[in-house]
Amino acid sequence: MPEGCRCAGIAGLGIYVPERVLTNQDLEKMVDTSDAWIRERTGIRERRIAAPEEATSDLAAAAARAALADAGITAGEVDLIIVATATPDTLFPATACLVQEKLGADRAGAFDLLAGCSGFIYALACGAQFIAGGAADTVLVVGAETLSRIVNWEDRNTCVLFGDGAGAAVLRPAPREKGILATLLGSDGSGGTLLQLPAGGSRLPASQRTVQENLHYIQMNGREIFKFAVRVMGDAALEVVRKAGLSPEQIDLFIPHQANIRIIDAAARRLGVPMEKVVVNVDRYGNTSAASVPLALADARDAGRLCRGANIVMVAFGAGLTWAAAAVRW
Ligand code: UT7
Repeated sequence: MPEGCRCAGIAGLGIYVPERVLTNQDLEKMVDTSDAWIRERTGIRERRIAAPEEATSDLAAAAARAALADAGITAGEVDLIIVATATPDTLFPATACLVQEKLGADRAGAFDLLAGCSGFIYALACGAQFIAGGAADTVLVVGAETLSRIVNWEDRNTCVLFGDGAGAAVLRPAPREKGILATLLGSDGSGGTLLQLPAGGSRLPASQRTVQENLHYIQMNGREIFKFAVRVMGDAALEVVRKAGLSPEQIDLFIPHQANIRIIDAAARRLGVPMEKVVVNVDRYGNTSAASVPLALADARDAGRLCRGANIVMVAFGAGLTWAAAAVRW
């Protein structure tokens, strides 16, 4: 953060994952795939699937409650709620408003943010700016998805990859030596069609035809996204480390978006960070898009890996195309 601005720090973390576990063996019975293929190509063993009555705002609110409890603050103290999601309960109202109501956060403004799998880091950067500028003291940032609702369960190219979940962070002013040191946001809309949900918006409203043609499901060019991800994850991480005034050797923990273990490996190599400093949970949750980085962050906390003063770098890529990175001192 520039001199003179208030720094924002993460004062609490919380997650929620649905109870139901869908394993690779379960998927073998649904589509023409194998546990070996999924593990070799992605590193995923299982993922969580929301119960029929659960929607994104339910997952988000559960994670948010846990984050507020972790921070030791009440919902009434929250000034702003930002929910990063590509799977809102409805196109409108915003899922953030539904979360506001569920929490009883009666003083909070609320809006959704759409940046695909980069959404949580985008929201973190956005919330940090509200604190830096003095417009808010307490910001609740949530990444939440029910991707199982927009996956074509007959398409083996995509259905093995994704899972449901939510992670939340409470942002509050922090001393300069502790908190969000630097953020970086990027986008390239020319790659938008590489990963998209074609129907249901103003370009192609939902109709019988769009449903018959499966245009209400995720469509992805996996190979192109893979190449983009490998390039951008390493570059964005290096750039945010430089912006934070650090060198790669000073990184204590690297928290990449959990899409694919091969992408994570490549990004860590590019950054020069050994795998023992990398947080990996893609095996247990699959790709949970905007929830992926906070789920990994909370896993690191629970494993005792977030030591006071540690330099943490988070990086993600996703639909848009987008990418984002943040350097945080714990
Ligand atoms: O958060 C952003 C979201 N998206 C991503 O992160 C996706 C990034 N891309 C990837 O992770 C990888 O490209 C995939 C995991 C999606 C695919 O791995 P790949 O090594 O790029 O495989 P491929 O697309 O080159 O496909 C190899 C083969 C193909 O068969 P042919 O054409 O070589 O005969 C696919 O049809 O694997 C086949 N295949 C499968 N086989 C068994 C594709 N999906 C499956 C599957 N099970 N589930």
